[in-house]
Amino acid sequence: EAADIGVIGLGVMGKNLALNIVDNGFSVAAFDLDKAKVEAAEHQAATEVAGREQRLFGVESLAEILASVKAPRVFLLSVPAGRAVDSICDALIEAGAIAEDIVIDTGNSLWTDTVAREKHYQGKLTFFSSAVSGGEVGARFGPSLMPSGDKAAWDRIAPIFTAIAAKVDNETGKPLERHQPGDVIEQGEPCTAYIGPAGSGHYVKMVHNGIEYADMQLICETFHFMQTGLGMSTVQIAEVFERWNKGVLNSYLIEISAEVLRQVDPQTEKPLVEIILDKAGQKGTGLWTAVSSLQLGCPASTIAEAVYARSMSTQKDLRLQLASSLKGPAIAPVSAEEQQQTIDALEAALYCAKVTAYAQGFQMIAMQAKEQHWELDYAAIARIWRAGCIIRAGFLSTISDAFEANDNLSNLLLAEGFASKLNELQGQWRQVVAQAVIKGIPVPCISSALAYFDSLRCEVLPANLLQGQRDFFGSHTFERVDAPKGEFYHITWSESPRKLVKIN
Ligand code: 6PG
Repeated sequence: EAADIGVIGLGVMGKNLALNIVDNGFSVAAFDLDKAKVEAAEHQAATEVAGREQRLFGVESLAEILASVKAPRVFLLSVPAGRAVDSICDALIEAGAIAEDIVIDTGNSLWTDTVAREKHYQGKLTFFSSAVSGGEVGARFGPSLMPSGDKAAWDRIAPIFTAIAAKVDNETGKPLERHQPGDVIEQGEPCTAYIGPAGSGHYVKMVHNGIEYADMQLICETFHFMQTGLGMSTVQIAEVFERWNKGVLNSYLIEISAEVLRQVDPQTEKPLVEIILDKAGQKGTGLWTAVSSLQLGCPASTIAEAVYARSMSTQKDLRLQLASSLKGPAIAPVSAEEQQQTIDALEAALYCAKVTAYAQGFQMIAMQAKEQHWELDYAAIARIWRAGCIIRAGFLSTISDAFEANDNLSNLLLAEGFASKLNELQGQWRQVVAQAVIKGIPVPCISSALAYFDSLRCEVLPANLLQGQRDFFGSHTFERVDAPKGEFYHITWSESPRKLVKIN
């Protein structure tokens, strides 16, 4: 009997998605150029749940996978973003795929590539995309899925996607965990929803990753502060993160940060984090988010700073050279009382900065949606990030509530709940930034978030002077506060008498 879906690409993500589909009762035809990966997937599906009928069948070619899947066919593609996606689609067409066949790209593709691919393959196959978040474990036991493209295609895919997605308890908003092969969760709200037209799901995932970069860097900055500014050990800091994980900061990233800090290097018996080289990698989605924010003219400085922080980390040789010649202040030891106060302030600062990063990310999505004429459901986006994905966190329910209350919220800081919380906590946030500056501890994300907050509070920014400068040297014109919007003026700066000219 023909399989429900074909999975192409059996790297860790592809294989785990295939096994997840099998757990949920669907049958899979599986293909990879590497035969060993096909055999490994088949073997794992056959053996990991005792007594279960085999529902994963390996195939040896794209022609064979086309013949093995129920028509109209659905293929899930899990190959590296970029040219591999095109070459598989082209090869599928060559092998006989037709317009009704759906190909779902699940990689971290650049959203504009997705838009172009949907157009390019029109009439040849139905190119659909679904961004996947949650890493290996998410793929296996419930990821967050951000599908976009042809709505009719989504209706065909939805039964499989809603089955394999992470689930959230309807009452508590908390993730319902699956841990074992063969486990299935049928109740709860699935962490997937149709996002919108082609590219929108990948755009949303890209911004998810930008927020992920910011969230990770923000946590790292509090770690750095506690370590160098408060003289705390890694285990003491792990304890702090474990405590924070029980409060407003409850999140996957805080939880795993504590676990990373508790890990011991088997070779040296030292905390592993002290052995890990401080050079951060990146695969590009954070950078894309920063670039997109600049292109949109949407300030996302906290996200961009997180990308820069990774770049700064890779300048290891330069940092080693400058560590001795650029002198910073001596850091005085702190009393137990001051230490506790600072830890509490760091918790508040981390919360505020995190809200800021989300505010930037959601505003980016809204501005891009406007440009692309996408109609998006922001509350739903926040809801499908509550489980499965890397940035899953307790406070995503608060974000979805804020959008539920006002779908036109152009920035999260306009939501009464967040505004009052940030107003309440800003004193501690300022303390952290001030202390970091005095002690010479870099906190680029925490401080840029505060600058973002303070900028948004300003009725008047010094861009008035800036416009004056531009008009002075380049006759670039300016608007007047006492004239209608859209009327532009130039002043003859050095002529006497000065003339104010209205430009049409
Ligand atoms: C996720 C992640 C994932 C991402 C990795 C690596 O949501 O599951 O965002 O998609 O690829 O986390 O990203 P970097 O290598 O850029 O850190």
